[in-house]
Formats: sequence, structure tokens, C-alpha cells
Amino acid sequence: MDSIRIKGGKPLNGKIEISGAKNSALPLMVASLLTEDTLTLSNLPHVADISTLITLLCHHGAIAVMNGESANGGGCDGRSLSINAKNITNTEAPYDIVRKMRAGALVMGPLLARIGKARVSLPGGCAIGTRPMNLHISALEEMGAKITITGGYMEAEAPDGLTGADIRFETVSVGATENLLMAASLAKGTTVLENAAKEPEITDLVHLLRAMGADITGEGTSRLVINGVDRLHGTSYRVMPDRIETGTYAIAAVITGGKIELTNTHASLIRSVLDALEEAGADIEETENGFIISRDGPTVHGVDIMTLPYPGYPTDMQAQFMALMTLADGAAMITETIFENRFMHVPELARLGANITVHGHSALVRGVKRLVGAPVMATDLRASVSLVLAGLAAEGETIINRVYHLDRGYERLEEKLAACGADIERIHTS
Ligand code: UD1
Repeated sequence: MDSIRIKGGKPLNGKIEISGAKNSALPLMVASLLTEDTLTLSNLPHVADISTLITLLCHHGAIAVMNGESANGGGCDGRSLSINAKNITNTEAPYDIVRKMRAGALVMGPLLARIGKARVSLPGGCAIGTRPMNLHISALEEMGAKITITGGYMEAEAPDGLTGADIRFETVSVGATENLLMAASLAKGTTVLENAAKEPEITDLVHLLRAMGADITGEGTSRLVINGVDRLHGTSYRVMPDRIETGTYAIAAVITGGKIELTNTHASLIRSVLDALEEAGADIEETENGFIISRDGPTVHGVDIMTLPYPGYPTDMQAQFMALMTLADGAAMITETIFENRFMHVPELARLGANITVHGHSALVRGVKRLVGAPVMATDLRASVSLVLAGLAAEGETIINRVYHLDRGYERLEEKLAACGADIERIHTS
């Protein structure tokens, strides 16, 4: 298993180009199952989750071609992917794939809408929480699907197709909103989704579905109205910039006291994060295709944050902000309201000298003067990158083990940070 070695304490200065958004690319790729035509996506990030989803789509019978080369065996490195799902030969999403990447369960809605059946593994829990599928299941049932759970699989059938329904989600769920948007696009009649997620990745999916011929209104609001159509067609579409990667590198600049220009992105995608960073003492200057961020002063101030659905502060940026707050000249209360167990990075940050006390869903971070490098262990994608950020600011050497989590969602992380002056390298172990 690879690890990452960082010699910290250097301000980062330079430019980082932001990749396409993993969390947008995944549902956009799944939308290929809704049409017999070819869907071509550009600005795709080269991260492990994309390869895992290609494997799943090919397992369903899709043909995926990346930059002209067959990607069926994985191991592709292009940015433009064409997927053709004319012949769906298998409607099962196996445990081995879905347990690695929960987004695999998004195939349920499209398969039901197009083929009338799907057998999808329950994703199971993960480090950050139990992550149930009840919202996906009950909403698809309201549209006429019959779903039973047997042997760890959701076995779903809609022999007469799906029918539009008025659905009110009891909790805001990004995945359930995406699954239902895709299912409703090919259903009979009108579906209304209330308390829908408003994340920019939902807007990206609506824009793609519309380009494929879907009739959807309300993106960016909590009420989506979908008039089902008989068929969707192929299109070409560019994946939006990764707002979590954007926020992560913004914090890299601030935590090291450097100055980084982020390109191929927009400040408006992570306004809540930039507001918190400005309050902590960051300077932000918007540019034509991104922004420049630096720290104004020798330290940052303590700022409280609470994670919330968009446009609130994103849970996927909680761990990174906590890393920053460990070095604040005061205290910060960090409250996690989306996932029940998303403080796995706390004991690891403590190994670097952070002073953090967890009370239920809140963590009180009392800033310390310095962090000192140590061996630490990555537990999930965003927790891992918070350890990278802390390691960049810590004195001496930090070794982060189990970095396969990072590879799921950050493209060429070491290369991008090294280009800004970080002393960072990957250690390959067999
Ligand atoms: C997506 C993101 C993930 C992000 C999360 C919240 C992708 C691939 N992943 O995950 O990075 O952290 O949004 O912004 O886009 N819930 C239920 N029942 C359900 C579904 C969800 O109770 O059927 C709960 C979850 O346990 C969680 C909350 O709803 O507490 C939000 O989860 P959700 O928005 O569904 O997250 P994902 O779509 O899985």
C-alpha cells in the first residue's frame, strides 16, 4: 500500500489547475444508461472512482471508450469518455463494486426506468456513517417500483414502467435526488421532487439530462419538476470543476501562509468555504477563471462552522477546515450535521499535536502554536486530505499511510502540490 511523505513548514506558492468534479462526473456517467445513443463527457478527472464506475457500466453491457482506446479493462488516463449503453446485457450492480463506491447504487433509477428491473447491492456502511438507501427505495416505490431486499441486494422491478409521483424527501440527499431525477426523466407523467438537494452537481446533472432531451425545471431550488419523455438521446457535455478540490487547495494556501492561484474553477461554487476562510484571515481575489488566495497575517483566527446541505458549508470540506483551525490563534467549534461519524481524522490530527475535543456532533478545536510531523493513517477520502494539509503545515516529516483513499478523489495530488513548492512524495510499497 502506498504512502505519502511530506516535509512540512514551507509556504506554497504557484498555480493549480482544478480538475473536473468527481461527484458530478459519476452521476453524469450513470446517465449514459438512459439512452441507446452515445454520451461523451469531457473534463473528466483521472481518479480511481471514475475507473471503478467504468467497470460497472461495462459490466451492464455499456461500451466505454476513453480518448479512442477501449477502457473496458480500466487503466485509462484520458479526459474525454464516450459511453454507449445501447445493449444493456446485465442489470446487476455487484457488491464488490458498490461497496467500494456508493455512487454505483445510482444505476438503480436509470436501469428501472429503461429496462424495468435492477438488482443493486446495498452499499453498506462506511467509515463516515451507516449511509442507508431508504430515501432512494421509498421514492422509487412511490413511482411504482416493487423493491425487496434479499441477500444484501435491492431487487427492483417495474414491469409496466415507472409513473410520475409527488415525492417529498424527509432528508436532503444528493444521491437520492440524482437517482430520482434520472428515473423520472424516462417515467410516464410528471414527477415533483420536494426537499431536493440544491448542490451544483445536481444542477450539472439537470443540464446534462436537458441536453439529452429531458424536460426538467427547478435546478438550484429544492423543488424539481420532471415531465417524463419517451426517449433520451446522446450528447456531448463538459463536467463542472471540482468544488471540493478547489476548497482543499485554497486551504493549502492559507494553512501554509502561501499564495496560490486556482484556475479552471469558480469562487461561486464554494462561497460558504471562502466566506469562512476570509473570516479566518484569508485574502481572496477573483480572476477570470478562478481566484487567487493567500493568508493575510502570520496566523489564522478561530472560526466556527456547521456543515449543512448546499449552499451551507459542505461536509466534504469539514476535515480540511479542521486541519486549518488546529493552528488558529483561538478556538473553533466545528459541527457536523450530515454524517454521524465524520470525525475520524481527529485522533490522527492529535498525533501531529492538535488539541481537539469531540462532544457528540461538535468538535472544539483549540489552536496550537505548531504541529509536528508524525506517521498517521488515512481513514476516508476527505479525512486523508486533511492530514496532507496538516502535514504541509507541520514541522518535520509526516507519513500518511493508506493513501488509496486519496486516489479515489484527488487527481495527481502530489504533483499539483509539488508544483507550488511542497516537499511531498509518494512511497510505493508492494
Ligand atoms: C454525496 C457525495 C458525498 C457528500 C454527500 C453529502 C457523491 C458521489 N458523494 O454523497 O461526497 O459527502 O453527498 O454532501 O456525490 N441518507 C439517508 N437515506 C438515504 C440517503 C441518504 O438517510 O437513502 C442520509 C445520509 O446517511 C446522510 C445524508 O442523508 O446523513 C446525506 O447523504 P447524501 O446526500 O445522500 O450523500 P451521498 O449522495 O451518498
